[in-house]
Amino acid sequence: MFSTAFLDIPPLQGASGTVTLPGSKSISNRVLLLSALCQGTTVVHDLLASDDTRVMLAALRQLGCGVDAQGTTVTITGLGGQLKHHDAIEFFMGNAGTAMRPLTAALAVLGGDFTLKGVPRMHERPIGDLVDALRLLGCKIDYLGNDGFPPLHIGQPTLKVDAPIQVRGDVSSQFLTALLMALPLAAQKQDIVIDVVGELISKPYIDITLNLLARYGIAVKRDGWQRFTIPQGCSYQSPGTIHVEADASSASYFIALGAIAEGDGIRIQGVGAASIQGDIRFMDAAAQMGAIISSGNNWLDIQRGAWPLKGITLDCNHIPDAAMTLAVMALYADGPSTLRNIASWRVKETDRIVAMATECRKLGATVEEGPDWITVHPLPNGQPIHASAQGQWKAASIHTYDDHRVAMCFSLAAFNADQLPVRIEDPKCVAKTFPDYFEALFSVAHANTQDIPVICIDGPTASGKGTLASRVAQALGYHYLDSGALYRVTAYAALKAGLSLEASDEGLIADLARTLPVRFEGDTVWLGREDVSEAIRTEQAGMNASKVSVLPGVRTALVALQHSFQRLPGLLADGRDMGTVIFPDAPLKVFLTASAAKRAERRHKQLISKGISTTLDSLRADLEARDARDSSRSVAPLKAAQDAYQLDNSSLSVEASIDQVLAWWQAKQPF
Ligand code: C5P
Repeated sequence: MFSTAFLDIPPLQGASGTVTLPGSKSISNRVLLLSALCQGTTVVHDLLASDDTRVMLAALRQLGCGVDAQGTTVTITGLGGQLKHHDAIEFFMGNAGTAMRPLTAALAVLGGDFTLKGVPRMHERPIGDLVDALRLLGCKIDYLGNDGFPPLHIGQPTLKVDAPIQVRGDVSSQFLTALLMALPLAAQKQDIVIDVVGELISKPYIDITLNLLARYGIAVKRDGWQRFTIPQGCSYQSPGTIHVEADASSASYFIALGAIAEGDGIRIQGVGAASIQGDIRFMDAAAQMGAIISSGNNWLDIQRGAWPLKGITLDCNHIPDAAMTLAVMALYADGPSTLRNIASWRVKETDRIVAMATECRKLGATVEEGPDWITVHPLPNGQPIHASAQGQWKAASIHTYDDHRVAMCFSLAAFNADQLPVRIEDPKCVAKTFPDYFEALFSVAHANTQDIPVICIDGPTASGKGTLASRVAQALGYHYLDSGALYRVTAYAALKAGLSLEASDEGLIADLARTLPVRFEGDTVWLGREDVSEAIRTEQAGMNASKVSVLPGVRTALVALQHSFQRLPGLLADGRDMGTVIFPDAPLKVFLTASAAKRAERRHKQLISKGISTTLDSLRADLEARDARDSSRSVAPLKAAQDAYQLDNSSLSVEASIDQVLAWWQAKQPF
C-alpha cells in the first residue's frame, strides 16, 4: 500500500496482463455462514482476508465447525443444522457488522447459551429491528447493555412460524439478509413468510443474498421487494466448491484501463459477466463507449476497441459507484458524455458530483453539472475530436476527498495524450476497498522508460546516501536501488566461489555478476536462498566491494540489473556512478558529501551500536583509502555529475537533507 502524502503517476503508454482483484466482502461472509449451516464440506476459494472474515471464521470454529484455511482457500465442514457446542459460549464480533447480524439470527434460531459482544463502536450499531423480528418468531434474546444494541444474550427459542414475520427494510438491508439466511433452519414443517416494512434499501445486496441461497439449495420466492417466502422442507446443500467473486466495483478501473490503454488487453481474474453483484453492469457502459469485452466463468477480458472512446448519455442509477469511472473515461471520448440519475453521488464519502467536476476541470476538461447529472467534455486524444471539446490536458494534483473511488478512477488520467504525469493526493485512501490498487495498476501498466523518474544520490562512503535515498524513496513511494549492495554481494559471491578479487579473475566474477540471484525484500538481501544482509554490511565486505568495482567487466555485467530497477512509479538510486553512468538522463541528481572526519565519526557510532569495536583513526584511514580507490579508478570513478546538485550534510540533520532533496524534486514538477 502507498502511504505517502501523494503519488505521482508518470505518463502511461499502455497496459497488458492479468490482475487478480480482492474478493467481495459481502459475498465472503455470506458464503462462510451458509457453508457452516450445510451438511458436509465446502471448499471456499478466493476468500477476502479482512477483519470481518476473521471474526466470522473464529465464531464458526467456536461452534465446532471444521475450518481449514490455506491462504485464500478455506475448507469448511458444516454443522448440518446441529450445533456441536452450544453451552455458555462468548463470541467476540469486533466491529464486523457482516458477521454480527447473520450470526445473531442463525444462533437465535438454533438456540443455546450464547453471548455476542464487540468493540465499543459495535455496541453503538443498531440491531433492534432484527431482534424484534426474531422475537416475533419465538427467539429468546436479551440485551445485556442498552436496548436495541449489542451485547446480546441468546437462549433457547420456542419457535412459532405460522404468521408472517415483519422486518424493517429502511435501516439496513443486513437485517433482511440475516433472516433470509437463518430461517431455512426453521422451515421444516411450513413455508416461512417475511414481510418488509417500509421501503427496502440496498436491493442489490438482497439480490446477492438470494443468489447465494440458491447456490446452497434454498430457492426463496420473492414478490416484488415486499414479501419473501422460504419454502417448506428446504435444506442447505453444499455446492461442494465455491469461488468468492472479486469485487465488481474494483473491476471497473481495470475494465476502463483495458478500454483506454493500448496493448494486448487486460484479463481480470475473479469476476465474470454472470456476477451476482449489481456493479458488474458497468461492463455494458464500458462496451457502449468502445471497449471489447469477453467473459468466462470467473474472468473478463478487455481490449481497446473504438478510439477515441464514444461519448454516451446514460442513466447510471443501477451502477452509482462504478459510474464514477465513466466520468474519467469520458475524457478520452469523441464527444461529451452525460451521466444521469446520480443524485446519490451527493451523499457518499464526499459530494462526488462536485469532486468529479472539480478534478476533471483541473485536468483541463470542460464540465457541466446539475443536481443529479454531470456532463464531461473530452480532451484531445491525438485524433480529430468533437467541436465542443475545449482546452487541453493539464498536469494536475488530484485532491481525493478521503474517497477511495476518486483516487482510483483519476489514476486513469495518466494515459493522457499530452504525456503528463498525474499526482494523486493521499493515495492510501484506497485501503477502504482495495489497499493494493496502485500496485495492481503498476503490475499491468507500462510507461516509456525515459518517463519513469529516477533520482540519483551519489557520494563517497559513509556520506549517508543510503539513509537519505531510502527515506526519499519512502516519501515518494518509489523503488530503491542500493547499488553498493550489488558490488558487495558480487564480492561475497566471488569469494564463496573460491575466486580472487583481482583482475586475474575478472571474467569469472563478471559471469557471476551477470546472473547474480540477488533479491531485496525490505531490509533483507537474499543471494539465492541465503540471507546475506549481515555478511555484506561489514567493513571488510565494503573493502571487497571496492576491489571488484574497479574491474570494468564487472561494472558492465551489473548494468542491466541496475537498469531493471527503473520501474513504475519511480526509482531512487544510490551509489557512486548513478548520475554519471547508469542513469545519465535522470531528472534529478544529488552529490552528497560530508567531511572525512564527520563520516568516520558516523560510521564509528554505527559500528559501536552494533557492538563492533574499532577506532576513529583506523576508520578514517579506511574511508580515505576507499575514497581514493573509488575516485581514481579508470572506469566510472566517483565524481559528481555535471548537472548534480551538491549537498554537504556535515552539519545537516537527516530530516533537513530529505527536505532539501524533496524540495529540489518538487521544483521540477509541473504541479
Ligand atoms: O555504497 P557502499 O559502501 O555499499 O559501496 C561499496 C563499494 O562498492 C564502494 O566503495 C564502491 O567501491 C563500490 N560501488 C561502486 N559503484 C556504485 C556503488 C558502489 O563502485 N554505484
